[in-house]
Amino acid sequence: MSDTPENPTSSAPPGSRDSQRERAGARLATLDELEVEVEKLIAGGDGLARFEGIPIFIPRSAPGDRLRVRLVERRPDYGRAEILEILEPGRGRREPPCPFFGRCGGCDLQHLEDDLQVELKVAAVGETLRRLGGLGGKLPVRVVAGPAWGYRMRAQFHIDSAQGAIGVGYHSRHSNEVIPVDRCPVLVPELESLLSTLPGLLSEGGPRRLDLLVGEDDALSSAPVVPGLPHGEVKLQVGDLEYGLDARCFFQAHRQLLPALVEVAVGRWSGEEAYDLYAGVGLFSLPLASKYKRVTAVEGDRVAARFARRNARAHRLGQLEVVSRAIEGWIEELPENPERVIVDPPRSGLSRRVRNVLGAKAPTRLTYVSCHAGTLARDLRALSELYSIEELVLLDLFPQTGHMEVVAQLVRRTEG
Ligand SMILES: C[S@@+](CC[C@H](N)C(=O)[O-])C[C@H]1O[C@@H](n2cnc3c(N)ncnc32)[C@H](O)[C@@H]1O
Repeated sequence: MSDTPENPTSSAPPGSRDSQRERAGARLATLDELEVEVEKLIAGGDGLARFEGIPIFIPRSAPGDRLRVRLVERRPDYGRAEILEILEPGRGRREPPCPFFGRCGGCDLQHLEDDLQVELKVAAVGETLRRLGGLGGKLPVRVVAGPAWGYRMRAQFHIDSAQGAIGVGYHSRHSNEVIPVDRCPVLVPELESLLSTLPGLLSEGGPRRLDLLVGEDDALSSAPVVPGLPHGEVKLQVGDLEYGLDARCFFQAHRQLLPALVEVAVGRWSGEEAYDLYAGVGLFSLPLASKYKRVTAVEGDRVAARFARRNARAHRLGQLEVVSRAIEGWIEELPENPERVIVDPPRSGLSRRVRNVLGAKAPTRLTYVSCHAGTLARDLRALSELYSIEELVLLDLFPQTGHMEVVAQLVRRTEG
């Protein structure tokens, strides 16, 4: 593109905002380095700065940072950059406590004070919900945070044996390169202490990925099977309920915040019939079954569904039925106007089909548990004519990373 005042191939009227943007985009395309000031964090944890109005996303930056950065991606309407030099640090910057921070892709926010991380993530999620979700006015937000270190009781490690020696660690931020780690301070101590012994238990040609989960009494479950590592069921106590599961199943990773998550999602309501969609091993289905006369849990993963069934039996919850099917295939079986539905989909959110059928069946109370602000915003926008938001609770289930869990309590609007 030319560096002349107006781009002759542009369809934007000369002097318009679009035309100015196009020229800025053309200038950005010619640059390698920039000096910028970071405005804020966006959902996911990157910092946002601007070059002549064009957003530049910068990992591991802090609001208020003045930075010299190198552009690593240039698009007409945004860029990505990495920090070359911190010219002036923003408020709340600190020396990252973990020596692997920066290379390891596990954490994005260790360079910020713990309390500031929560403050900035809450602002970023709020902005995403307003901008992409079309939610206006003051959002009814409550924040729940717990320990910021030593909280992860479940982790997925990657294994590298290419260099002869076995390395156990995490993928680097932008590639599948394994960064071996011998400590990881976000893990619960029982899990972190295994890091030094794991390489000795693994051999060349063994698994490339290892899932580990610590249950009650430090019991360990691993998947796939590795000689020398236990791989069976472990128990986890959450509130007054005990759940059985193994390392193959999804389970929320923040040990200390699990009871709060269950309390917020299940809530104070009770009644005749409830549905728990994307149920896992029954984290919400079991407590729902003590409040509703009939509960249906739907879970696509067979192993998790089997544990959910076993967990229901162990608590003698005959009123809880577990259906082992993909939600997309099952959703038409949801009755018209059910009293209560909880959805807890993966990061991709609800598929269009599930969203449409849910909207058509119109549950009276819909609880949406989300680990991705962008897809939550998209889904809430689609449901916004039908529902009002009674409460939004942001749970800091992933300290030191840019992620947050959000629970939205929605109630169907009454007509007229
Ligand atoms: C975010 S987890 C939530 C699990 C559970 N609610 C909990 O908190 O432990 C999402 C769950 O949905 C399941 N899942 C993902 N996509 C699905 C689909 N299309 N149909 C049914 N289950 C699905 C996964 O196996 C996983 O157990």
